[in-house]
Amino acid sequence: MIELAGLSKRFGAVTAVDEVTLTVDAGETMVLLGTSGCGKTTTLRMINRLVVPSAGTVRVAGRDAAATDPVALRRKIGYMIQGVGLFPHRTVEENILTVPRLIGWGTAESRRRLHQLTEIVNLEPALLPRLPHELSGGQRQRAGLARALAADPPIVLMDEPFGALDPLTRQQVRREFLRVESLVNKTIVLVTHDTAEAVELGSRICLMAKGRIEQVGAPAELLFRPRTPFVEDFFAAGRLQLEWMAVRMAELPGAGRLHGEGLGSLTVAEALARLERTDEAAFNAVLKEFFAHRRKRAGGPAEAAP
Ligand SMILES: Nc1ncnc2c1ncn2[C@@H]1O[C@H](COP(=O)(O)OP(=O)(O)O)[C@@H](O)[C@H]1O
Ligand SMILES: [Mg+2]
Repeated sequence: MIELAGLSKRFGAVTAVDEVTLTVDAGETMVLLGTSGCGKTTTLRMINRLVVPSAGTVRVAGRDAAATDPVALRRKIGYMIQGVGLFPHRTVEENILTVPRLIGWGTAESRRRLHQLTEIVNLEPALLPRLPHELSGGQRQRAGLARALAADPPIVLMDEPFGALDPLTRQQVRREFLRVESLVNKTIVLVTHDTAEAVELGSRICLMAKGRIEQVGAPAELLFRPRTPFVEDFFAAGRLQLEWMAVRMAELPGAGRLHGEGLGSLTVAEALARLERTDEAAFNAVLKEFFAHRRKRAGGPAEAAP
């Protein structure tokens, strides 16, 4: 769906993005992960032409983005700016309808969509006439998402979408986002510096450092098969929690007999949370299986580099 090839961006002497080659498949959530300044935002903004590349190409749905009309491109690509980026002097409603207005939707169509969007992102309609500063952080976040989804684009770019929230709200809003039905089939590129967020939300993670890609793969691949010491170190803090978020119960061979139905589709972290208070024996058995799995993955043959 999105193909970046040899993509670079220089700002004067600074090389912000250095020959990034990456394919994002239709329907997947690709997380661009890395510390501040490693080039995540610049990479994201080259996808929707807000930043012009110094070298390399961006293809969106098979077409060269540089040769596509920017308005047509932004109709296909929703964008959630770092720090939410709502226009401070416009009401929530005006903010949400920015793109529909830009692409010339009528009033009736916009009204209908507005109503749908408040349901999709769980935003009270009473908040629509307010200004962004009259909303809580979580409500602003939902308004930002509604704006990104307004024209129902197949692609959504999100830059640190939960960055402005305190840790507890952050986790709640993140869980809510995972359940937003209209995001399920979209192609999402999400920028974050938070490893837990990357493991929880990413179908794949692209870990970047100094404008370059260190490793791309499923969360469990980066955790269990780091290609460089940098990748290994990056996940060192809270590694165990990250690992049980990345492994599914279905991957544990003994898990089927542990606890009947319903656990198979969960991650180990979710299963442990569910069993913690209800079934001590099953809880311990899952932990034991998980540690066996972990040892096996760490010791097995290395997967081929992409
Ligand atoms: N418009 C700009 N002008 C000059 N330097 C920039 C500009 N945008 C980004 N940079 C620099 O490029 C590097 C990557 O920035 P950015 O993509 O914002 O990183 P990240 O989103 O990973 O924090 C940083 O060194 C940053 O200072
Ligand atoms: Mg950034």
